[in-house]
Amino acid sequence: MPFLLLPSCSTKAETAQLFLYTDNDPFMDSLASRIESTFKEKGISLISHNASRKQSLQNSQFVSILQDNDKKPVLLNIYDRLSANLLIEKAENEDTPLLFFNREPLLSDTENTAWAKKNVYYVGTDAEYEGQAEAEIAADYFQNASSFKGSKFDKNGDGKLQVAILRGELSHQDALSRTKYSTDTLRKLGFDVDLIKVAYCDWQEEKGYEEMRKMMLEGANIELLLSNNDAMAVGAVRYLKTIMKEGESFSDQFFPIIGVDGTEQGKKCLEEGYMIGTVFNDATAQAEILSALYTSIVTKTEKPTFGDNVIVNGNFYKVKGTKIHH
Ligand code: GAL
Ligand code: CA
Repeated sequence: MPFLLLPSCSTKAETAQLFLYTDNDPFMDSLASRIESTFKEKGISLISHNASRKQSLQNSQFVSILQDNDKKPVLLNIYDRLSANLLIEKAENEDTPLLFFNREPLLSDTENTAWAKKNVYYVGTDAEYEGQAEAEIAADYFQNASSFKGSKFDKNGDGKLQVAILRGELSHQDALSRTKYSTDTLRKLGFDVDLIKVAYCDWQEEKGYEEMRKMMLEGANIELLLSNNDAMAVGAVRYLKTIMKEGESFSDQFFPIIGVDGTEQGKKCLEEGYMIGTVFNDATAQAEILSALYTSIVTKTEKPTFGDNVIVNGNFYKVKGTKIHH
């Protein structure tokens, strides 16, 4: 007798749909829980879907909610950002606004139709600044480029800075920007950068551990390890601790390590002296922007404005991070 259940529908709490690329990513966990709590404060509970790093799965999850979603904005952490076009098309057919976050769609896909220009948004972090900030933390640590040459930090004494990078996913915008801006900024600051290794670790701690192990076995002469995020740096640290010799400090034995995100584990490594810095990726600010945009769309009111730490470019909102170091 399903009709007996009908009255409960009218008292049903307001809900919104949240799509996540994985449930196994420490920064995403913190971002998802911030989003959940900001929406909860407005009385909206989120229904979340985990794509387990499979775009085909996310596509079918997305399609399955579209029709009954009453044109409410959907929060979308797309797995493969190059597939955004397909989901935008489906959303347009149901007149359902999209709030992409953390994994950025191509501008061309978001501006493909008049509908998309009005109804598709992106909220993320300012990864260009984060790359720059990683370089600045390093330069600070080495007490600038001219004193680096021949110092104890220039371990092979060739005057160049041997850099290794633990890189996030191949096509992820934050991996691209952090890699480019960290090395470009080091050069701008006067360092003769010798990029000896770029290891793809897809943001994952386990892969950071494994790639660090390989580099050490190859005898790589690393003078600076830049990681596109904390999780991979934490993995590298975890490996280095297994080969660490007693009686010598971690930083003297190995090399400075810098990450991005400021996760709990990252900050712990920093406190314990295994990392020299990280750059805060502000999940709270990103969650608040998503929540404000959601409400302005639903209530058809003006778009919210934010402080100087948020760079707004059309429908793209990027939060500037802050350096965390000694
Ligand atoms: C980045 C973050 C990474 C990872 C990735 C997932 O912004 O720094 O740690 O969570 O997003 O898309
Ligand atoms: Ca050197």
